[in-house]
Order: sequence, then C-alpha cells, then structure tokens
Amino acid sequence: MTQNLADTSRPAADAAHEAAALDPVTGSTSRGWWRDAVIYQVYPRSFADSNGDGMGDLPGIRSRLPYLRDLGVDAVWLSPFYASPQADAGYDVADYRAVDPMFGTLLDADALIRDAHQLGLRIIVDLVPNHSSDQHEWFQRALREGPGSPLRERYHFRPGKGEEGELPPNDWESIFGGPAWTRTENPDGTPGDWYLHLFAPEQPDFNWENPAVADEFRSILRFWLDMGVDGFRIDVAHGLVKAPGLPDIGGADQLKLLGNDVMPFFDQDGVHEIYRSWRRILDEYPGQRIGVAEAWTPTVQRTANYVRPDELHQAFNFQYLGTDWDAAALREVIDLSLDSMRPVDAPTTWVLSNHDVTRHATRFANEPGLGTQIRTPGDRALGLRRARAATLLMLALPGSAYVYQGEELGLPDVTDLPDEVRQDPSFFRQAGQDGYRDGCRVPIPWSGSEAPYGFGPVAGGPSWLPQPAEWAELSVEAQTGDPSSTLELYRSALAVRRAQPDLGAGTEVEWLDGPEGTLLFRRGSFVCTVNTTGEPVRIAAPGRLLLASTELVVDGGETVLAPDATGWWAV
Ligand code: GLC
Repeated sequence: MTQNLADTSRPAADAAHEAAALDPVTGSTSRGWWRDAVIYQVYPRSFADSNGDGMGDLPGIRSRLPYLRDLGVDAVWLSPFYASPQADAGYDVADYRAVDPMFGTLLDADALIRDAHQLGLRIIVDLVPNHSSDQHEWFQRALREGPGSPLRERYHFRPGKGEEGELPPNDWESIFGGPAWTRTENPDGTPGDWYLHLFAPEQPDFNWENPAVADEFRSILRFWLDMGVDGFRIDVAHGLVKAPGLPDIGGADQLKLLGNDVMPFFDQDGVHEIYRSWRRILDEYPGQRIGVAEAWTPTVQRTANYVRPDELHQAFNFQYLGTDWDAAALREVIDLSLDSMRPVDAPTTWVLSNHDVTRHATRFANEPGLGTQIRTPGDRALGLRRARAATLLMLALPGSAYVYQGEELGLPDVTDLPDEVRQDPSFFRQAGQDGYRDGCRVPIPWSGSEAPYGFGPVAGGPSWLPQPAEWAELSVEAQTGDPSSTLELYRSALAVRRAQPDLGAGTEVEWLDGPEGTLLFRRGSFVCTVNTTGEPVRIAAPGRLLLASTELVVDGGETVLAPDATGWWAV
C-alpha cells in the first residue's frame, strides 16, 4: 500500500502511526524507516581527506559513500561541517547556513546529499541550537553594541555579583570545567556584563525565551530540509531551556550530578515545546524526515519524553552506552529501555560509541566502572572480543542502532596522544569532562602501510591527529576479504539484519533461560546468545548458527558459547 507523501494535513501523531509509506530513498515500504535503521556517524574531520590538508572534508565523504552503502547501513549522520572557528571541533557554529571552507562548499554538501540518495542512503545533519560560536554575527554585534543592544537578549547576558560585578551571576559550572560565565568588556573598555556558556567560552548559550532565536532555528531547519537532508541530530537537545531566574545549584563539582539529577540548565520541561514545533516542520516535508535528540537525561524514562508522538523520532540511549559488559546489567537496561519507549510508541536507539566517549573496544578492555573517558589501553584483545560481541547484541535488539565511524574496523581509542597534539577544548580547562575525546577522533585508516593510511591522498601526508603505526593492519583494505576481520563481521551482520525482518523490528525480546553470565533471547524466528563471562558455557544449540562474534562450536545438539561472544541463530 502506498500513501500520498505530500499530504501534510494530518496531525503529527497520526503521521507517526502511519501504517506504511513508500520510501522515496530506498523505494521500499515501511512504518517509519528510522524505527529499525542502522545509522552510521561520520565525523567529517576524520573520515576522508580529499585535498591532502590533513583534515577530512565533504568531497572525501562523498567519495567513500559506496563503502557505506556496501557496509549495509541505512543512513549517515554527519557531525557539524558548518562555518566555525573550530573552538569545539565545529560544535561552535558561526554561520548555520554555510559550509566551513575547510570542509568544502554548499555545492559539495548538495552533491553529497544527492549522491547519497542515489545510493539509497539518507543523510542526517547535526544541528547545534543550544549555543553558537562567539564569532556568530549576533554575538559579535551584541558585544559591539554593548548593554541595551537587542542582540544581547538572544543570549544570556547578566551583570555580575559583588560590589564591582566582579563575581559570576550564579554558581553554574561549565561542562568543560571552570565557571559557566565569562565577563565581557564594554565598548568603552570598562569591565562589563557576563555571558553564559555551558561549554567553552567560545560557545555562548542562546536565550530560547527570545522569539528571534526560535524563528531563526525554524528557518535553519527549513534551509537544510530544502537542501534535501533526511533529518537532524540535535546537539545538547536537553539544554535549550534554563530554569527561570537561573537559580544557583548550591555546590561545586556539579559535573558529578549530571546524569543523576535534573539540573536547572538541563532537561527542563520547556524544551519539549520547541521539539513539538520542529516536529510540525519535519512533517510538512515528504519522505519521513526525522529529529534525533542528543539528550543526556537522568533516566531512560525522561529520555522517552523527547520521543513522544508529536516530538522527535529518536533519542540516543546513553544509559545503554554507559552499561558495563555484564549480562545482568545489560538485561536490566534493555528491559528498562524497551519498557520506557513502548508507551510513547518510539523505537529504542541503541548506541555504543560516538565522538564524545572512549570507543567501546577500549571501554571493554578496561576494568568496569571507569566511565566513558578512559586513558588506558587495557587488554586490547579482550576489549576487541567483547566489542564484537557487544555489537552483535546491539544489532539483535529491536529498534534503531548507531555505528560510529571506525568501530566497524574494531579501532581502539588512541590513549597515548601527546599533549601537544590534543585539541579537545575541555583538555585545556581544569576539572572538565576529562578532555580525552581526541582519542576516539583519530582519522580512520583506509589502505596502505604508511600514515595517513589512505585518509589523505598522499602516503606520508598529514592528518590532523597522528595515527598509530599498528593501524596499517586495521585498515579497510587490510580487513576486506578476511572472514575473521571485524569489518567483515559488521558487513555480515548488517546483511543478515536486512535479510531477517525479525531483527530490529518490534519492541519485545523474549528472554530464554540460560546459565549465569549469559543472555539468551528470542525474536520471532531468531535467537541471540551472549556469553559475557570469561569462561566457555555449554548450552543446547538453539538452532542453525547464522553468525558469531567468535567461532562457536556446535557439537551434535549442543554448543559451547565461547567466552565474551555473541551468536545469532535461526530457529
Ligand atoms: C555535544 C557534542 C559535543 C560537544 C558539545 C557542545 O555533546 O556531541 O561534541 O562538545 O555538545 O556542543
């Protein structure tokens, strides 16, 4: 059955429950392509460098689209490529409608979107609405025009406390460390008001109470939707609205509270009205355009608020990302996630790695409980074995899954980058969120035996962060055709997922009994077995083995689940 895609008169909630719609990119029919999509995150700086300047770019990404199609993903999310001074690797946007020259031009973006669609891939772009760059025209004018300028109302300018206004207006701390306020200088050179920046001082927070801000972002959405993008990943989606009066928190070390408490600058209920208005815009366009929230909330239940039927389509499941490699903990978070999303009829959006956290191959190589910013390589072989098993588990769960570039190569974090090459702004601010994010942002190896391993066009050429010598063996070229490689495991897994509709679909897993430390579940005609222990475990073979993260021996009616391994079975 096909429906009229251009019919925009239906309310959002109806559209979300649409039974089947013709997919203009892939030509197939589905209830909502995003519900079980596998979406690949490209970090443009580090994916492919077409011009040899050591920095990835849009033409580079465009040239590698066939690789992504062959990998078997449904869509590509691009981290920001907009005009930016790069104080936070592009998450400080100076012009939301321009491509930074280091990444290319708007024409390159247009060509990339068109090529992707021709290959059946969708494109999701990053939108950064919580803050702009301090070089954004509005902020520059606000500084130049001084107190009383209407442009100041679009940010959070406040007089300081203390006799001379020498103290910040409240006690909020920046996520990157230090106070969340910076004092300005008046046009006459005297010390002036302070402005709020939850991240770096180069990232002033917008004041979303100001209608000009809301208007501007609706217009930016339309600009990129008109360019043909299929959706937006919304940066710091939980941060746009601040509690009225910007109240003090009343204590230091606030970063430790993040993720556990509702803070006056995060996850305020007012953000949802913004997403309702964006949803109406997304639904005006044909082809099921989506919004994906990056919302670090205290609970999965609060994450579900972002994906109510009239809000966004997906929200990253960071509670899952933060779960250790432990069967009981995984089962608990999986159940909680599915139970929390079911009432809002949204898919769960699984994720193991991204550009802000230590790659899962390194997280699982270290002892549990160290969090998502890890500085030690740990036991690499163990980390890789668990990472492969964790990926097969993730891809067997109902819902959508995100894959971060390079995880399909089994890349570890680079934990020994010298301080002088680091660029993460929080590395340079005391007591920040550790500032070790460069370790997961090292350019990925494509081919050859010499750095930059095909990332740039010339052997021996530059890359903005140095790649380790061992990465020659991890390149796409080195792994292609090797059935034991992580790349071939991802290719096979994504091919099976496409061929087996029971994978990804639905909202239920049926847990089966299994020995301690294992997870066994059924999904229609498919069974997944996971052994999170370091010991082999013997069970009755659930069916015909489809794929395994480590070789599994099937012996008569029994199988031995290898340590830290996942198996996929047809039953
Ligand atoms: C998001 C981005 C991160 C960035 C921050 C500030 O968390 O993922 O990379 O530093 O927002 O924009």
